Amino acid sequence: MTLHAPLSGRPVLVTGAAGFVGSHLCDLLLDSGHTVVAMDNFSTGDAQHLAHRDAHPRLSVWRHDVTDPMPAALQEVDRIYNLACPASPAYYQQHPVSTLLASTLGAWRLLELAQSSGARLLQASTSEVYGDPQVHPQPESYWGHVNPIGPRACYDEGKRSAEALCYSYARERGLQVRVARLFNSYGPRLRPGDGRVVSNFIVQALGGLPLTIYGDGRQTRSFCYVSDTAAGLAALMESDWEGPVNLGNPREHTVLELAAKVLEAVGSDSPLVYRELPTDDPSRRRPDIAMAQRVLRWQPRVTLEEGLRRTIEHFRDRVPCSPTAATTQSAAAPWSQAPGGLITSCPPSPMGRPAVTDAAIASAFTTVL
Ligand SMILES: NC(=O)c1ccc[n+]([C@@H]2O[C@H](COP(=O)([O-])OP(=O)(O)OC[C@H]3O[C@@H](n4cnc5c(N)ncnc54)[C@H](O)[C@@H]3O)[C@@H](O)[C@H]2O)c1
Repeated sequence: MTLHAPLSGRPVLVTGAAGFVGSHLCDLLLDSGHTVVAMDNFSTGDAQHLAHRDAHPRLSVWRHDVTDPMPAALQEVDRIYNLACPASPAYYQQHPVSTLLASTLGAWRLLELAQSSGARLLQASTSEVYGDPQVHPQPESYWGHVNPIGPRACYDEGKRSAEALCYSYARERGLQVRVARLFNSYGPRLRPGDGRVVSNFIVQALGGLPLTIYGDGRQTRSFCYVSDTAAGLAALMESDWEGPVNLGNPREHTVLELAAKVLEAVGSDSPLVYRELPTDDPSRRRPDIAMAQRVLRWQPRVTLEEGLRRTIEHFRDRVPCSPTAATTQSAAAPWSQAPGGLITSCPPSPMGRPAVTDAAIASAFTTVL
């Protein structure tokens, strides 16, 4: 993994920092010597994902929604990683308006901040911009096949809008932007029950429950371990490449293959149950990562077997033996207030768990990403 040393000593802003990918990215940046401002509204994130960094002298955590005006103190930042957007289909289909606004209004606010502070901005985009692809594997040059009004449109079209905003600011105002198109990432800190296939299967297998397969299970996905994803984001941010870059694992697996691997790794003989395929569920998904290999010299290193082993280890200690219990989050905040950080004059509320955990999340064994 390439660790990028701080360039200027100015802080790096990570939005969506208490989420699954964001928290691993914060770990990588802190370990690389950066000063990190971690921003999150805790809608799908969890303060516990950053709790192991409690009181870190180079980390400050702010509760803030990216759709709200940015605090003036952020003028100090020189890198902005914008990851703030729910990624769980179960969640974003319940909250389409705030999801779309996070990717549009939120991206606009952060691009304005990038312009006024002179920062470079990396937008976390997604393979969903390719929709249900008619080109396989998907290179960055593919324009996609997206339903603009379906139940996934709030996410897919939001991300397409965010990309368009980024390149509009680059063209018109000379901003430095980077766009990472992430394909399925997995690993520790996925939220049990948020509807993503890897965590669903692991939680179900550990609980001795049937694994839910949507459709016939022959749809394909590619799974990138989260440390590889975070390393790709950091590499792209510091690269000179301005076009969008796919970050994902090019090894393609059917959902049935994944189920078999999870059952084997857990040592479970849970049966499979089949359910109807959700609307607009892509049938094939595999990144063409030639661009990332060429311009970033990046490629995934962690095999699916090793990544599943690490992820299962993480969940084994945390997941009770019932999926209902598994999806209920702990109420206690690990910290009662934000740790000290470089910027203290901003108006963040003390960080902690979100006051409300959406009930939809708790019963979200319904959708497979
Ligand atoms: N994990 C994947 O496989 C994957 C794949 C493609 C793209 N992505 C993108 O990567 C980013 C991170 O995904 P993730 O898997 O960590 O999801 P996540 O839901 O775990 O993290 C998203 C974080 O953003 C926060 N957030 C949401 N709306 C916000 C707002 N308006 N203001 C401030 N914070 C807000 C959430 O509380 C959460 O902590 C997202 O932008 C997602 O679209 C992820």
